[in-house]
Amino acid sequence: MKPLYIIGTSGFAKEVGQLAGHINAATPRWSRIEYLAEEATNIGLELPYGCVTGTDALLDREEPADFAIGIGRPKIRQRIAERCAARPWLAAPNLIHPNTLVDPAWMKLGQGNILTRGAVFTCSIVVGDFNVFNLNCTIGHDVRIGNCVVINPGCNISGGVSLGDRCLVGTGVQILEGLGVAADTTLGAGALVSKSITEPAIYVGLPARPLSK
Ligand SMILES: CC(C)(COP(=O)(O)OP(=O)(O)OC[C@H]1O[C@@H](n2cnc3c(N)ncnc32)[C@H](O)[C@@H]1OP(=O)(O)O)[C@@H](O)C(=O)NCCC(=O)NCCS
Repeated sequence: MKPLYIIGTSGFAKEVGQLAGHINAATPRWSRIEYLAEEATNIGLELPYGCVTGTDALLDREEPADFAIGIGRPKIRQRIAERCAARPWLAAPNLIHPNTLVDPAWMKLGQGNILTRGAVFTCSIVVGDFNVFNLNCTIGHDVRIGNCVVINPGCNISGGVSLGDRCLVGTGVQILEGLGVAADTTLGAGALVSKSITEPAIYVGLPARPLSK
């Protein structure tokens, strides 16, 4: 069995480590879970189901390993995914909590996705790579999700919605059926998207409007 590297040591990385620990307890897949830190000062730190064994320089060690990105910012997820893609000894499995509702016969799922406890997916859904589906989000029929999208807890993505690459969907966001959201859009916590978004920006409120500071 290979090790699993979790890239990052933040709160979200700890949640990814816990998810991996629960998956491994249900069906053993990894010999061990290691966290890779940005700063060497964190080496040795005990985190859920593993500890920090080094910096991300360990990605250059040419030994087969799986990796998961424990960082919740879409652009950073993309940068790390690109870096790892250039290292053929690394693989990016989908991490799917046993209590997620997924119907593999009716869903296309790329690689490196994180599906946490309570996420619900219905049918005819297409998901790219390196996305996050956090606690208790719901994804309706015929939804299309690009790459490196982060969907925070409690979001409801209605049927037929399309989300472009690197969108950040704040906790509790609601998106009404059939709408499109442009790549690189941020939806603030609690926003209600009632019209398609074609210009990437930060949107907040009910209904969602561009955030003006
Ligand atoms: C929308 C968001 C991206 C804005 O972040 P930001 O650019 O740092 O903005 P600020 O915090 O400086 O807030 C700017 C203004 O927008 C308001 N605002 C911030 N988030 C808001 C939201 N979700 N809905 C409505 N208004 C919001 C602030 O109150 C502030 O208003 P003010 O100028 O009248 O004081 C952020 O607040 C957000 O909602 N992120 C998602 C967080 C999330 O879901 N995390 C999940 C963790 S699991």
